[in-house]
Amino acid sequence: MEKTMEKIVALAKARGFVYPGSEIYGGLANTWDYGNLGVELKNNVKKAWWQKFVQESPYNVGVDCAILMNPQTWVASGHLGGFSDPLMDCKECHERFRADKLIEDWADENSYDLGGSVDGWTQEQMKNFIDEKNICCPSCGKHNFTDIRQFNLMFKTTIGATSDENDPNATGWLRPETAQSIFCQYKNILDSSRVKLPFGIAQIGKSFRNEINPRNFTFRSREFEQMEIEYFCRPEDGLRLVDEWLEHRLCFYDEVGVPREHIHILDVPDGERAFYSKKTYDLEYEFPFGIQELEGIAYRTDYDLSCHQKGSGRPLEYFDEETREKFIPHVVEPSAGCDRTILAIICEAYDEEELVDDKGKKDVRTVLRFVPRMAPIKAAIFPLLKKNGEQVRIAREIEKTLQPWMSVFYDETGAVGRRYRRQDEVGTPFCITVDFETLGENDASLKGTVTIRHRDSMKQERVAIEDLLHWLIARVR
Ligand code: GAP
Repeated sequence: MEKTMEKIVALAKARGFVYPGSEIYGGLANTWDYGNLGVELKNNVKKAWWQKFVQESPYNVGVDCAILMNPQTWVASGHLGGFSDPLMDCKECHERFRADKLIEDWADENSYDLGGSVDGWTQEQMKNFIDEKNICCPSCGKHNFTDIRQFNLMFKTTIGATSDENDPNATGWLRPETAQSIFCQYKNILDSSRVKLPFGIAQIGKSFRNEINPRNFTFRSREFEQMEIEYFCRPEDGLRLVDEWLEHRLCFYDEVGVPREHIHILDVPDGERAFYSKKTYDLEYEFPFGIQELEGIAYRTDYDLSCHQKGSGRPLEYFDEETREKFIPHVVEPSAGCDRTILAIICEAYDEEELVDDKGKKDVRTVLRFVPRMAPIKAAIFPLLKKNGEQVRIAREIEKTLQPWMSVFYDETGAVGRRYRRQDEVGTPFCITVDFETLGENDASLKGTVTIRHRDSMKQERVAIEDLLHWLIARVR
């Protein structure tokens, strides 16, 4: 079975996971909307992350901060001066490209070993390489580029009513990461929640980057959601904790349906890490379009808090009551993309299974093998026959009983086999059928039981209606 992005994107749209944004107006390049099933999946991912790293953690607390921040934040953090990508234009067709991606794509296509990432290269090195190898414009095929210049990825906006859109006092930025608001609130959290080192502040929220070449479905978007933790610690613990966080994060991916064996761990070498980072792991997943980053786990030392202490003029030190020391805590940051996690979960779950029926007839069923916890619909409920009033009544009653506990879906149209297939395509782990046995018509001992069909094995078993809720809760939580 070939797992292609074409198949995954088509299924995602057809079944209500992800639609192109503002499509009726011709769309807006690389904006995406989550549909009725996509939003359930997204909520399940965020809920699992929050439960594991906030609710069940004795060390971490959560926040939900504003997207707009005082512009000085971005001066102090270094984003205004340095959060940029190397941009070059094709002089023939006027397409714009990220020079580093142009080189990486060319190297992939030509099986050329770059000997590492292009991240550490200077603009001059990139330009020389593109010229030496005669790399051509992917749009028009010509080799005629401008020089490389740095393009800031932050989205600019105007705050409040002003007569001049370029008024520097009215200029604001949409946050390009959730992390900086955590650093800015670190002191308030410290004072109001009485946390002690080590502790983490967790946040899930939107971030915006004016990416030069957004692509690969939701993988690189201009608007996306991040799930970030800034874990504050004593300086001597940073290197140990970055390894501990690697393990916690791999466990998380395992639990949501991206097995750790499918995640590549890149220990980012010296020269390719941010200058302030003493250690960084990139967790990469084998997407159908290549091995790409899912998450970064970086030991950022005391860089961010020091920058904000300097920028704001406010003391951001931590006072250790036991040792009587005052110091700026160090930070380990596991920073994951919510949309990339969802994409990895869908890619991982996608399967096409060849089936042969009793008469030897071949068929293929498309199935999303989500772990039950991630499935947008936990159980589908069918009356075997929609004309049978008693079956319908019992099926509707089951639906009502389960609804407060999990997302369920009632379906009475078409043959039961077709209904199973529709649920397989959206990854519903269990289908519950109210049939003649439920009514005690064929075998009195089966009265009050339903058929449960398992998505993956397609096996069926009978469960008493009165046990159904507990049976399901034990399997979908
Ligand atoms: N605070 C650190 C930080 O933001 P990053 O590596 O730039 O680090 C962290 O971003 C994660 O956010 C990435 O690993 C990725 O999962 C997600 N991410 C970044 N840019 C993205 C984009 N344009 N579209 C979707 N997800 C993105």
